Amino acid sequence: MCKVIAIASQKGGTAKSTTCRNLATVLKNMKYKVLVVDCDNQANLTDCFGIESPDKLEVTLYHLMERVIMDEDLPRKENYIITKENIDVLPASILLSDIEIKLVSAMSREYILKTIINEIKEDYDFILLDAMPSLGLMTLNVLATCDTVLIPATPEYLSAKGLELLLKTIFKIKKRINKRIDFEGILLTMFDERTKLAQEMLEMIENSYGSHIKVFGTKIPKSVKVGEANARSKSIIDYMPTNKAATAYQIFAKELLSKELI
Ligand SMILES: Nc1ncnc2c1ncn2[C@@H]1O[C@H](COP(=O)(O)OP(=O)(O)OP(=O)(O)O)[C@@H](O)[C@H]1O
Ligand SMILES: [Mg+2]
Repeated sequence: MCKVIAIASQKGGTAKSTTCRNLATVLKNMKYKVLVVDCDNQANLTDCFGIESPDKLEVTLYHLMERVIMDEDLPRKENYIITKENIDVLPASILLSDIEIKLVSAMSREYILKTIINEIKEDYDFILLDAMPSLGLMTLNVLATCDTVLIPATPEYLSAKGLELLLKTIFKIKKRINKRIDFEGILLTMFDERTKLAQEMLEMIENSYGSHIKVFGTKIPKSVKVGEANARSKSIIDYMPTNKAATAYQIFAKELLSKELI
């Protein structure tokens, strides 16, 4: 059965796209069938997979959502999925910034993305939704579609504080829009365990949220190589397999999968 994981935080730059990129690679290496969906008009995830000039693509997530809003049939999957390194990618482009305004007056506006994902979800073991750093209608669509939410957070005061609003939103979503939604957990990224701030923020996150949300034991360390890998449209796992962040993403994936068995 397919599991749909949203990777979300309304704080920008917490390694949502990087986590999506690398988790997809690790899961694919474990022989799972993986689809990643770029739900952000910045199209960073699309870029991280080496899909160039997404604004020239005929069909992106925007076009599919527009069709659902207009009550039109969706094209065949082959027309919009791009396969990179055995991972299926549903790309986005800057056009997606127009979707918020279209969603405002759409019927069942929270469920537009879900309609698309429901058509294709049988083909996958995991679908990863890379959310944008906001809690607008597009992100509500992401949260309405997913089974669980994985929240990357950096060990900074504002990142830790920023979790509150997201968690409140998720509780509201659970009441009204998606009763099944659950927390996957909080993943600390760009973590430098040697710094006092990182330790303090970890403690603060564990004390504030640890009683009802899992805080993953695995932390993703900071490494300039991660940025280099992203810039070369590669996962850190392929770019530098011995890198500490590459190892961490692999251990993290095992920790995530081991939760399934509990
Ligand atoms: N472990 C890491 N070590 C060092 N740099 C990292 C690490 N993870 C991510 N980065 C860098 O941090 C920046 C933000 O990462 P990323 O784009 O994945 O975050 P994001 O949460 O998706 O951002 P946005 O909110 O804008 O979508 C990027 O430049 C990325 O290369
Ligand atoms: Mg991103």
